[in-house]
Amino acid sequence: MNTTKKITLIVGARPNYMKSSPLIEEFKKHQDKFSVKLIHTGQHYDHNLSQLFFDHLKMPKPDIHLGVGSGSHAEQTAKIMVELEKVLLSQKPDLVVVFGDVNSTLAAALNTAKIGIKLAHVEAGLRSFDNTMPEEINRIITDRLSDYLFVSEKSGLNNLAKEGIANNKIFFVGNIMIDALINNLEIAGKSDILEKLKLKPREYILMTMHRPANVDNEELLAGLLKAIDKISKTIPVVFPCHPRTANRLEEFGLLSGLNSQSLRLIDPLGYLDFLHLQAESKFVLTDSGGIQEETTFLKIPCITMRDNTERPITVEIGSNVIAGTKPQRIIEEIDQILSGKNKICQVPELWDGQTAVRIVETLIRVLE
Ligand code: UD1
Repeated sequence: MNTTKKITLIVGARPNYMKSSPLIEEFKKHQDKFSVKLIHTGQHYDHNLSQLFFDHLKMPKPDIHLGVGSGSHAEQTAKIMVELEKVLLSQKPDLVVVFGDVNSTLAAALNTAKIGIKLAHVEAGLRSFDNTMPEEINRIITDRLSDYLFVSEKSGLNNLAKEGIANNKIFFVGNIMIDALINNLEIAGKSDILEKLKLKPREYILMTMHRPANVDNEELLAGLLKAIDKISKTIPVVFPCHPRTANRLEEFGLLSGLNSQSLRLIDPLGYLDFLHLQAESKFVLTDSGGIQEETTFLKIPCITMRDNTERPITVEIGSNVIAGTKPQRIIEEIDQILSGKNKICQVPELWDGQTAVRIVETLIRVLE
């Protein structure tokens, strides 16, 4: 690489921030080689889903904020494409970098392909094989359009090979979200969130739930909450609530029957408080993708309220179990953990805090 390359990083939704922050830091060490711009699409705009993460992760203010906000999938993706196209045409970057599987990722990938800008995808190759998940569509298309695919776990290598993606585009670099976790674990340890919530280490369950498949279905949501409400009488449950979930709970009138002393619904938390709550919990109950990985690294048991995972390594060698969404099965898995039958688990290969270093080294090598 003999000239300075213009790199544009695209973020838009909560899980993007911790994936981009280690890479931004790493690029800073190579300012002679890269000039970096950060664009926030505005997919997430609530303080707790966006600015708080920028603050906790000490991220630079985005160079450009597109302010697109919420909408149907078509509206949101299209709005991002229209606004981002203008920016990319004027910035003319040599490379756009996208993260994960959110609508902002897909919109940016489509733009780069149409304009003819090289694209790198961080967290490539993950597949749930469930096309009803919006994220699965975003992953497949983004990978198909990418020139450099940075893979976090080995299943990604197999998936991409089966889809016929050329081997020389694929780089097994490890999990960048674990870079962010390792960088922030010590400072997260200083969070006073346990005191604020009057919780004791290992004596509470941390829960999150926001997937449309779980929270948009009234019967399913009511069944899950009833079961969790019952469990909370044995061990308190803390449930930072995504705005989508909060809206549905209100809409379905599900809040009134809950035992608010033991099942604690709270606003979404920032990165450091949430990381600390995970690290000190007895176990985590979730339908998130990233939390399956964070708990694996932390060796905290994780019960995933879904029928599949795009992150199979967390089940094969980690602390994760895929429990589906039937209350009975979830209660059985909880009983296993409460009775002390924890799995012995390991940290997956290359989840070592050096993923951003490997990505930047690769880019120095492959960009002409
Ligand atoms: C998005 C991602 C999902 C990720 C999640 C993390 C897609 C398709 N999904 O889901 O993969 O796990 O982010 O949070 O990109 N809302 C607010 N404030 C906000 C943002 C959203 O109130 O700042 C509400 C709005 O009612 C909005 C709804 O949440 O319509 C859904 O937001 P959206 O960005 O479409 O998807 P998420 O469910 O957040």
